[in-house]
Amino acid sequence: MRKVMLLLLATSALSLFAQQPPAAPPAGGGQARPAPKNLKILKPEDVRAAMGMFVAGTGLNCMGCHVQGDFASDEKHEKVVARKMLEMTGEINAKTFAGAMKVTCFTCHRGEAHPKTAPDPK
Ligand code: HEC
Ligand code: HEC
Repeated sequence: MRKVMLLLLATSALSLFAQQPPAAPPAGGGQARPAPKNLKILKPEDVRAAMGMFVAGTGLNCMGCHVQGDFASDEKHEKVVARKMLEMTGEINAKTFAGAMKVTCFTCHRGEAHPKTAPDPK
């Protein structure tokens, strides 16, 4: 799982950042950020790349998933769902694509919070 996640992050961060600039750093950029307090899946060193990928994939900004001033809080529904999505994406790639990073947030979301289930009516 750990290996899968690293691959996911590396591959998707690279491909996404090739197309658009990385997400803005959190406020206070330049200063040392506090150590993460509530990670259930990511490693601390992967948080930054993962968050950029989440923003680009879902079109949500940081505050679409986080409450102001407390990134560790799980108060927002979107953050709780995003964690499940991260697990699901890792599982799909592990089970169906032998660990290759074929499915990312962007694969389904295409920059929107609510992916389409069917094509638009013509
Ligand atoms: C789609 C939802 C989503 C978006 C958008 C998002 N995050 Fe997150 N963020 C999460 C989730 C989920 C976690 C927890 C990951 C885990 O449990 O391993 C997290 C964790 C974090 C943490 C660690 C907090 C702690 O103390 O544990 C920081 C810092 C953070 N995000 C910053 C950001 C910043 C800055 C942005 C905007 C660039 C951002 N996030 C955008 C969902 C999101
Ligand atoms: C296999 C397709 C798929 C993948 C991959 C996927 N999602 Fe989702 N996601 C969905 C669907 C479908 C919904 C439900 C949308 C709805 O209810 O309208 C959803 C909902 C969400 C929501 C809740 C939106 C809301 O406002 O309720 C968040 C946040 C989210 N996804 C984040 C992520 C993140 C972050 C990733 C990558 C780690 C990801 N998703 C990967 C299909 C996917």
